[in-house]
Amino acid sequence: MDKLLTIKDVAEYLQMSKEKVYKLAQQGKIPVSRIENQWRFRLEKVDAWLEANEMGSIAVTAQGVAALQIPSHAEPFLKWAGGKGQLLRQYEAFFPKEFNNFLEPFVGGGAVFFYLFNTGRLQDRKKIYLIDSNEELVNCYLVIKEDVEKVIKILNTPKFINTEETFYKIRAEESKDKFEMAARTIYLNKTCFNGLYRVNSKGKFNVPFGGYKNPLICNSRNLTAVNLALQNVEILYDDFDRCLKLAKKEDFIYFDPPYQPLNKTSSFTSYTKEPFGEKEQVKLNKIFRELDKIGCKVMLSNSDTSFIRKLYKNFRIEVVLAKRAINCKASGRGAIKELVILNY
Ligand SMILES: C[S@@+](CC[C@H](N)C(=O)[O-])C[C@H]1O[C@@H](n2cnc3c(N)ncnc32)[C@H](O)[C@@H]1O
Repeated sequence: MDKLLTIKDVAEYLQMSKEKVYKLAQQGKIPVSRIENQWRFRLEKVDAWLEANEMGSIAVTAQGVAALQIPSHAEPFLKWAGGKGQLLRQYEAFFPKEFNNFLEPFVGGGAVFFYLFNTGRLQDRKKIYLIDSNEELVNCYLVIKEDVEKVIKILNTPKFINTEETFYKIRAEESKDKFEMAARTIYLNKTCFNGLYRVNSKGKFNVPFGGYKNPLICNSRNLTAVNLALQNVEILYDDFDRCLKLAKKEDFIYFDPPYQPLNKTSSFTSYTKEPFGEKEQVKLNKIFRELDKIGCKVMLSNSDTSFIRKLYKNFRIEVVLAKRAINCKASGRGAIKELVILNY
């Protein structure tokens, strides 16, 4: 259930007066409901307003967050190419009703993990493994889990401002401190063009400055909720094949690999310096089949190509519709068919 907030809660959260919140609600800018003659706000609507108005200048403080007693609802804290947020409604029909442990070997922004967590399907008794071979990404998960206050504190320092000069300075810098590095990754993700993560062949982040008016660089409320969501999670910087050593009968494994490109020009596979080509898709298919033999429930997303259909021809293949936005040309942004492959 979403947490309902009073005007006082929202004022504390946004660090503004109750009168200002009252005015915004009256003007219909922040949606509000009347429950037993009292105004009540939904946290997600307040957050949506923050994001839509790019109110990055409102530093949501740890005290503001504490005042809300942190809801269990956590969202991906990074925008990630190929993120599955928009597909969750279609995926709902495909998630297994019953399973034991959960493993996500290409976790990226973690849309599926957070969705399963928010909907109460990852109870404490289950083991959860999140794996990715992008070191910077995994470092973010690890430090947010370890000490989120420290990450928030660093992100709220004046160093992380949204100017072109600062962006390129921070992009060029590398720190030995894991907390500074995580803050850098989050900052670059929020301020770079299209919020993409892409590296060059040397593994260096190479996305240009986004030039957005006032992006929300530090969403303390969500980062704190992410910290809570990660408490019983094992986060591993590793290749996806690690899952084979961890998975047992009745576990649920969700694979969201870099997609097989639809054509030569549409490829976006630069999440890490190692390419993910046909060889890796074949290796993944082998692991899928081994997990199937062990008795795991396996779900995999990929593009709709004859190569992928052929690899998984012995399994259930479903089609979903996705809006693809990682192509900067408007012509590359229509809805396209994608595949969901299941062994159950
Ligand atoms: C399509 S994205 C996953 C997106 C994610 N489902 C989400 O909702 O944000 C693919 C991920 O696989 C990771 N990856 C690429 N090659 C890998 C490998 N060999 N082993 C593990 N992870 C890998 C990338 O770093 C990237 O985060």
